[in-house]
Amino acid sequence: MKKLALIALLALASLTAQANSGGAELEPANTNIRSKASLINGAKYFMTYCSGCHSLQYQRYNRTGKDLGLTDEEVKQSLIFTGANVTDLMQTAMTPEQGEKFFGKAPPDLTVVAKARGVDWLYNYLLGFYADPSRPIGWNNKVFPNASMPHVLWRLEGIKVAEFETHTDDHGIETRELTHFKKIREGVMSEEEYKRTVRDIVNFLDYVGEPAQLIRTRLAPWVLLFLVVFTFLAYLLKREYFKDVH
Ligand code: HEC
Repeated sequence: MKKLALIALLALASLTAQANSGGAELEPANTNIRSKASLINGAKYFMTYCSGCHSLQYQRYNRTGKDLGLTDEEVKQSLIFTGANVTDLMQTAMTPEQGEKFFGKAPPDLTVVAKARGVDWLYNYLLGFYADPSRPIGWNNKVFPNASMPHVLWRLEGIKVAEFETHTDDHGIETRELTHFKKIREGVMSEEEYKRTVRDIVNFLDYVGEPAQLIRTRLAPWVLLFLVVFTFLAYLLKREYFKDVH
């Protein structure tokens, strides 16, 4: 129930979020929630690069493990880097106060962020970081201008800077439009590898936002099959009943 209320709240927030993205076009994330390999990879990257600051406080480690087909032992080895137990909620050790002190803003819980922002927004957010010396943390973001989160994946992606075009409207008001990025330092991954990794992280966050999706997509073919069989039986029955009427 708590999760539902949160989804409703965040769905509202996403309306403002869409307005905030400045209408920038979003590249589709093309995630596949049925790919266990992608979800497991995304979970590992999330725990390595994101869980230091962000919680998934409505999700337990062992629930994740069960859904992703991992044993408790595998969960302990590949997803838990703290002293947490497999039955614990996936909470960060960072307190909101520390977050605020370090970044000027506490990193929000990400359990339902994929529902609130949408997978395409998340994908573009993680691809949208660029170096910007004018910002206190040295980074800025294309779809979330002036975000206070640093580019935590820069070693993987490399570093890029943004190029802008200035437009002046009829009233002489100038607006700056981010037209493209320029890579100034290579990362350890190719662009393709980086995008695949980001897609896996987004896929994992999509699953966390609604774990029941996995069951639903697994059940769907059976439900359809049932409907087909049932319709056929109903048809046979109808034929039987109406045989004597004609
Ligand atoms: C060093 C701390 C830190 C790490 C590590 C970190 N983040 Fe963040 N993140 C932040 C902060 C601070 C904000 C708040 C930004 C703001 O609102 O200006 C944020 C905001 C976000 C948001 C926007 C949420 C919203 O709807 O407003 C998303 C999504 C997000 N982070 C995803 C991630 C992912 C995915 C990772 C791992 C790849 C990650 N973060 C790693 C600090 C961090």
